[in-house]
This record gives sequence, C-alpha cells and structure tokens, in this order.
Amino acid sequence: MLSIAEAIQQRRSIRSFKDSPVSQEMILQMLEAARLAPSASNLQPWRFVVVTDAEEKKRLRQLCLDQAFIEEASVVFVACADLSAYSKKVSRQRYQEFIDTGVELSGRFTDSEFRKIIDSMPEPDPRTITAPATANTYIAIEHLVLMATALGLGSCWVGALTDHGAIKTLLGLPENIWVVALVAVGYPKSVPPPRPRLSLEKILLRPVPQTSAT
Ligand SMILES: Cc1cc2nc3c(=O)[nH]c(=O)nc-3n(C[C@H](O)[C@H](O)[C@H](O)COP(=O)(O)O)c2cc1C
Repeated sequence: MLSIAEAIQQRRSIRSFKDSPVSQEMILQMLEAARLAPSASNLQPWRFVVVTDAEEKKRLRQLCLDQAFIEEASVVFVACADLSAYSKKVSRQRYQEFIDTGVELSGRFTDSEFRKIIDSMPEPDPRTITAPATANTYIAIEHLVLMATALGLGSCWVGALTDHGAIKTLLGLPENIWVVALVAVGYPKSVPPPRPRLSLEKILLRPVPQTSAT
C-alpha cells in the first residue's frame, strides 16, 4: 500500500477504467477511510451507497451529464449526507459521545453557559444545513479517494449531479438524505501526468514564516 504522501502525490482523476472488478475487501477499506474522517462537532453526516450493478451505473451516468466513466467504473460510491445529523436531538447525542471520550476542548467550548445558549437555539433551517453537510462529507470523500489511490485504484469525483431527486428515487433514498457527490472507482487503464496546479507563491497570501526547528 502507498504511504499517504505517495497517495497524495500520485492521485489523479481517472476517467478510463479496465474491465476488472474491485474486491469487496478494497471497497470496505475505502469506506473505512471515509468513516474515520474528521467533522465539525463530530457530527459525521456522511452516508454511502455502493453501486456495482450495471443498470444502476448506467442510470447514474445518465443523471450525471452522460459521463461514460461512471458506467465503466467497477464501483460507484454515492456519497450522501444525512441532514438529520444536524437536528438538535442527533447533534446533542454526537456531541455527548465526543465529550464522553474526555476530549480536551478549548475556549468557549468549555463554558457551560455557552453550551446552554447552543442548546436553546431553534432547530436549524434545512436550507442552511446542506452547505456544512456537504463540506463535512467532502472530507470523507477525499479520505476514500486517497485510500483508493493507496490501494492502486483510480478514482474520479463526480459533482455534476443534474437531478438529485432522480438519483434519490433510483436508490430509494429517504427525505433526510442529501446526495453530495459520486466517486467512480476502478483499475485505471493508464495514469496520466499530474494536472496543472497553481504555484506555492500564488496560493500563499503572505510568505511562510521562519521557524526555530531545523
Ligand atoms: C467537488 C468535485 C467535483 C468534481 N466533479 C467532476 C465531474 O463531474 N466530472 C469530472 O470528470 N471530474 C470531476 N472532478 C474532478 C476535477 O475535474 C479534478 O479533480 C481537477 O480537474 C484536477 O485534476 P486531478 O484530480 O487529476 O488532479 C471533480 C472534482 C471535485 C473535487
């Protein structure tokens, strides 16, 4: 298996796959990488549907701008977020589990008055939840993608979901589930050179400070 540094360097979006199946063991390793992702207040909103059925992959291709690699992939992960993870009841439960581990919080998070203020807030408006639910699920997706690379697999994110409702109907997903993105995974036909990236100078808003470590 590749190291994390090697996986980060070697990952590319792969859009052409061999006709070879990915083992269930590897599928579980990728899901385990996703499961271990960090999330705000440890809410873990991510949920996954694993698609290997040819008809379902064909339909997903149609619902994602006809991108052929979705159908060619050995497995397609449909990454979703459970919006009910943000309800007061569930979020309080997740928060309590996290506190029970003895986690060392800091600042106003240690202040019981501050917790009371949070607890007295109304149920969140569903329209404001999809952004944090998506952000947190994206982290889990990238864990999955890096594990795919570490295992010698190729993958490609698919954010071009043209009809969330139709994907939910296809997979029989309930109301509280928000479809975030797909990840197509399989054995790459070939691995392309790295895609362009902005230089370090372009992404730094000020120079990196010197540190005392050598
Ligand atoms: C949120 C997100 C959505 C994406 N959606 C698609 C997509 O629908 N189709 C596609 O071919 N690539 C998609 N990509 C892959 C990007 O095009 C790709 O990561 C970028 O061009 C850089 O190339 P690289 O991944 O090979 O380094 C997506 C990537 C992200 C992070």
